[in-house]
Amino acid sequence: MATIDPEKPIPQHVAVIMDGNGRWAKARGLPRRDGHRAGAESVEACLESCGEAGIKFLTLYAFSSENWKRPESEVSALMNLLAHFIKEKTSKLMKNNIRLKVIGQMHRLPDKTQKLLRKSIDKLDGNDGLTLIVALSYGSREEIVDAARSLMDKAVAGEMKSEDLTNEIFSDHLYTAGIPDPDLLVRTSGEFRISNFLLWQISYSEIHITDVLWPDFRSEHLNAAIEDYQKRQRRFGGLSEEV
Ligand code: IPE
Ligand code: IPE
Ligand code: MG
Repeated sequence: MATIDPEKPIPQHVAVIMDGNGRWAKARGLPRRDGHRAGAESVEACLESCGEAGIKFLTLYAFSSENWKRPESEVSALMNLLAHFIKEKTSKLMKNNIRLKVIGQMHRLPDKTQKLLRKSIDKLDGNDGLTLIVALSYGSREEIVDAARSLMDKAVAGEMKSEDLTNEIFSDHLYTAGIPDPDLLVRTSGEFRISNFLLWQISYSEIHITDVLWPDFRSEHLNAAIEDYQKRQRRFGGLSEEV
């Protein structure tokens, strides 16, 4: 049983690559969309567990730029599920003082989904508890190129000089502007890869990979990830205190 050490810091920002919905469904002889539906329940459970643990930012990788390559039927099942989740859960998010943000190329989502998301984001805007950041039609390379493009536009317009560009200014042009970098990155279903997620932001994140499939992910698994994080010694390229 994982136990979080109250004496040690907990991650302020946890980012999760929610993977394994398809395998979960396959193992049960169910269609992939049933795995995604079960995955939505894990999202709700994870939000509650993060709230209890005192985590301030939770980023969930829900749909990647590359996921548009999946069959139309799966993409539309995912979009419908997302719309349903937003419609059904916004009032619960409100009650739990959760703020919502979306990162990614939102304009690629169906109009209906974009409208629902904007309405929900506006409604939850004044909340100051956990910030839930959902990565939708998100790709880190696209994000970096979008940032580079807006910086180039500024340079061409004479609003900035190339020699004035810093890491901080670059960060401020990413979709995640204003959000601290993740302290802990979790990937479910045992794959050891990043899949175009937050490449810039995870430079010094601690990584926890679990074999648990996303639809099975519950508070005990989040707590195990936090416990693992608490054992790490973060050095950011410097020397540890004991050296
Ligand atoms: C993660 O589960 C959800 C999304 C990528 C939308 P997958 O659908 O990738 O599930 P697996 O990896 O095929 O098991
Ligand atoms: C990453 O999972 C994207 C999300 C969890 C939304 P994928 O299943 O798309 O990643 P790969 O294809 O295994 O790298
Ligand atoms: Mg997958």
